[in-house]
Amino acid sequence: MKRPKTIDKPLRKFPGRVVLLGAGKMGLAMLDGWLARGLDPRKLTILEPQPAKAVKALTRRGVALNPKGKPLDAAAVVIAVKPQSAPDAVPALRPFIGKSTLAVSIMAGRPLRFLEDALPTGTAIVRAMPNTPAAIGRGITVACPNAKVTSRQRKQTSDLLAAIGTVEWTDNEALMDAVTALSGSGPAYVFLLAEAMANAGIAAGLPPALAARLARETVAGSGELLHRSDLDAALLRQNVTSPGGTTAAALEVLMGPGGFDALLTGAIAAATRRSRDLAG
Ligand SMILES: NC(=O)c1ccc[n+]([C@@H]2O[C@H](COP(=O)([O-])OP(=O)(O)OC[C@H]3O[C@@H](n4cnc5c(N)ncnc54)[C@H](OP(=O)(O)O)[C@@H]3O)[C@@H](O)[C@H]2O)c1
Repeated sequence: MKRPKTIDKPLRKFPGRVVLLGAGKMGLAMLDGWLARGLDPRKLTILEPQPAKAVKALTRRGVALNPKGKPLDAAAVVIAVKPQSAPDAVPALRPFIGKSTLAVSIMAGRPLRFLEDALPTGTAIVRAMPNTPAAIGRGITVACPNAKVTSRQRKQTSDLLAAIGTVEWTDNEALMDAVTALSGSGPAYVFLLAEAMANAGIAAGLPPALAARLARETVAGSGELLHRSDLDAALLRQNVTSPGGTTAAALEVLMGPGGFDALLTGAIAAATRRSRDLAG
């Protein structure tokens, strides 16, 4: 059984300034993670027109919030504004970008070519797709680099993104639509599972509040068990399924024709197509 990892300080020696564009939900989750992982607050700049209280409070620790004056070259700029704000917001980063600056975007659906057009020619850029458990440091992010990103900058990207969870890499940007459909949108499928289990419990005669609690804790606890276990999901499932028992009876329905596999294959294919269409 894996134990939760203790947080070390991989960002203590981050080589230069980090500029965050957009300190909303995701931006704040990254800020918290970066500071917890040892990033020097005096090496942090935040660009955010309407900073929340928690963001303003960081200035007391030396973080620069919407600084005036000549911007210094950053080691990394991180883009966490909504995709629709990007055309207006991203150009503000240009003065921070020098020859060796790394740009990391977590915007859904904004491809590398959009970022390459918006930032100075030749900028090293990583397009990354996180998911919503990032808010508690338990997301999974897939990162995709452009041709300018060095192996050192990959490592820097991983160190920055690890603040909100696990990081995977792909060099094939075409896969980002399927990534968006699986892990980007995936938390909604899991929340729907909890809703559907609660509704099914009510249909089986349970009081609604009890059904909701049982469904919620079953999904959350099973997720945590999967997270901590070295076993894969199929083996964990087999381990709780006795032949001829109650779980087996349910799985016969769920794994039968038109069951989970078919439904999720159809759902993820639909989301992949939508992601491709939105990217244009
Ligand atoms: N939330 C998720 O689960 C999730 C998952 C995957 C990817 N993402 C991506 O993460 C990004 C951030 O999402 P979020 O949920 O954190 O959104 P959010 O809470 O709306 O945060 C975006 C922040 O950017 C600020 N902003 C707007 N215009 C700006 C500008 N010109 N300069 C600087 N900051 C500006 C916004 O300020 P105002 O509020 O004043 O407009 C807001 O505080 C999005 O691109 C999204 O696609 C999010």
